[in-house]
Amino acid sequence: MNPTTRQPAMRRVLPLLLSLSALFLPAQARSIFQPPNPLLLSSTELDDLEFVKTYIEANANNTFREPSGVLSHPYLVPSGPYDQCWDWDSVFTGTALLSLGSAPYLAGSMKNFFEATGPTGDVTICLDPSDPNPSCSSDPSDNPAVAAHAKPLLIQGALIAARYTGDYSQFLEYKDKMELLLDYWDRERKDEETNLYVWHDQMESGADNLVTSPCPSSRSGCWVEKDCGNSLSSADLMTELYREHKAFAAFLQEWGDQGASDKIDKHLQIAESIRDAMNTHLWNKDKGSYIAYNVTSRTPILNDVYLLAFPLFGDDVCSTAQAQAVASRIFMDDMMGEWGVRSTSSNDPSYNNDNLITPYSNWQGPVWANANAIIGYGLLDNGYKEKALDLAKRTIAVMAEDLRNSGTWHECWDSEGGGGGLAAEGFLSWNTLGYRLVDDIVSGKNPFKI
Ligand SMILES: *[C@@H]1O[C@H](CO)[C@@H](O)[C@H](O)[C@H]1NC(C)=O
Ligand SMILES: *[C@@H]1O[C@H](CO)[C@@H](O)[C@H](O)[C@H]1NC(C)=O
Repeated sequence: MNPTTRQPAMRRVLPLLLSLSALFLPAQARSIFQPPNPLLLSSTELDDLEFVKTYIEANANNTFREPSGVLSHPYLVPSGPYDQCWDWDSVFTGTALLSLGSAPYLAGSMKNFFEATGPTGDVTICLDPSDPNPSCSSDPSDNPAVAAHAKPLLIQGALIAARYTGDYSQFLEYKDKMELLLDYWDRERKDEETNLYVWHDQMESGADNLVTSPCPSSRSGCWVEKDCGNSLSSADLMTELYREHKAFAAFLQEWGDQGASDKIDKHLQIAESIRDAMNTHLWNKDKGSYIAYNVTSRTPILNDVYLLAFPLFGDDVCSTAQAQAVASRIFMDDMMGEWGVRSTSSNDPSYNNDNLITPYSNWQGPVWANANAIIGYGLLDNGYKEKALDLAKRTIAVMAEDLRNSGTWHECWDSEGGGGGLAAEGFLSWNTLGYRLVDDIVSGKNPFKI
C-alpha cells in the first residue's frame, strides 16, 4: 500500500465536469462517449479505500474480547481508551466486521446487556466505572436520578447478529428482557401530550455535548435535574426506538410463538405512533429538516445538527418530500464539509472543533463516522445513492487521512482542518464501517435495515 497524497479539488471537479458535459451530448454521441459511471471511484479514492480496508482487516480483532468478569458472553470494545462493552459502539462495530468474524461478539455484546437488564428495564452492569470490564451505556454516576440503561439499539443489534448467523433462537431466552427494555421507554420516557420520548441528558444520547441542549448533562455546572432532566426529545431517540419496536416484531415473527400475532401488531402500532409523533412534532417544514423539542418548556429546539437527517435511517419514516428536503439540506455547506457531515452546523454560535474528551467528547462540530454512516445508509435507502456514495467517499478520505497523519484512528475528526483526528487515539469502533460502507452503497445494501 502506498497511498498517494490527496487531491480533493481535482477529484470532485473532474467527474462533475464529465457528467455535466454528457448532458449536452446528443443521445447517439452519448452512447459512444460514455460518461464515467458516477458511482465509480477515482484511483485516489480506490487507494484510500484499500488503505482503510487493509488497516481494518489487520486490526479488526483488537475489538474482540472473550467473556470476562460480569460479562459472560464474548463482546466488542471500541479500543483506544475504551476497554468496555458499549451499546451503540457494539452495534456498529459488530455489523461492520461481520465478514471478519464479529458475529459471536456482536451477539454476545447484546446478550451481556440483556442479562444485565433489571425488572424495570434498567441496565445495571455498569455499577463501577473503574472496573476494567464494565458494560457502560453511560456512567451511572452521571445520572443519580435514573438508573443506568442502554440506548434503544440492543434488539436491532441482536437482530443483525441473528440474521447473519441464521440463528434467531439464540435470543429467545431474552424475549422478556427485550420487552422490559421497550416498556421502560413507554413507562418512564414518554411525554403523553405529544407521544415524544425523551433522553435524560446528552451523555445518554451518546452525543455528549450536542448543542440541542443548553446544558448537556450533570457533567456541566449548569445542570439542574428538575428542569433539564428528561426534557429533550430528538430524532435519534425516536428513530432508534421506532426501529427497536420493528426489530422486536421481526424476532416475534421468527420465533413464531403462541400469541405472537397480537404482540407483533402491538409493537408495529407503537412503531407507527413513534413515527407519527416524530413527523408531527420534530418535522419543521420551513427548515426542511428534523428538529428537537423541549417537552418541559414545550418549545421547539431549532439548532441545526446531524440529527436533522437521522430519520432517513428509519427505513420508511420519511415521506418522499421529507427525504428530498433533508437530503439536500444535509449537503449544504454549513452541514457538509470536505470530510462529511458536521455534528453541528458551522453557522451555530457554539460551533467548534476543539479536541475534547473530558468532561465529554465533542459533538459541536467534528465529524463522527457513525453519523456519516447512519446518514449515508439512510440516503441510500431513500433513493439517494449518489449522495450516499459522495458521503461515503468523504468518510473514507478522512479515515485514510487520519491514518496517514497519525498511523492510527481517533474517535472523531476536525471538520475544517486537514482530516485531523481528535481524541481517543487508537479508537477502533464504528470507524470500522469503513470496511464495507462503500461496497454496501455501490451494491445498494444496507446491513442495518430492519
Ligand atoms: C487476531 O488475529 C491475529 C492474526 O490472525 C492473531 O494472531 C491474534 O491472535 C488475533 N487476536 C485475537 C485477540 O483474536
Ligand atoms: C428545557 O426547558 C427547561 C425549562 O425552560 C430548561 O431548563 C432545559 O434546559 C431545557 N432543556 C433543553 C434540552 O433544551
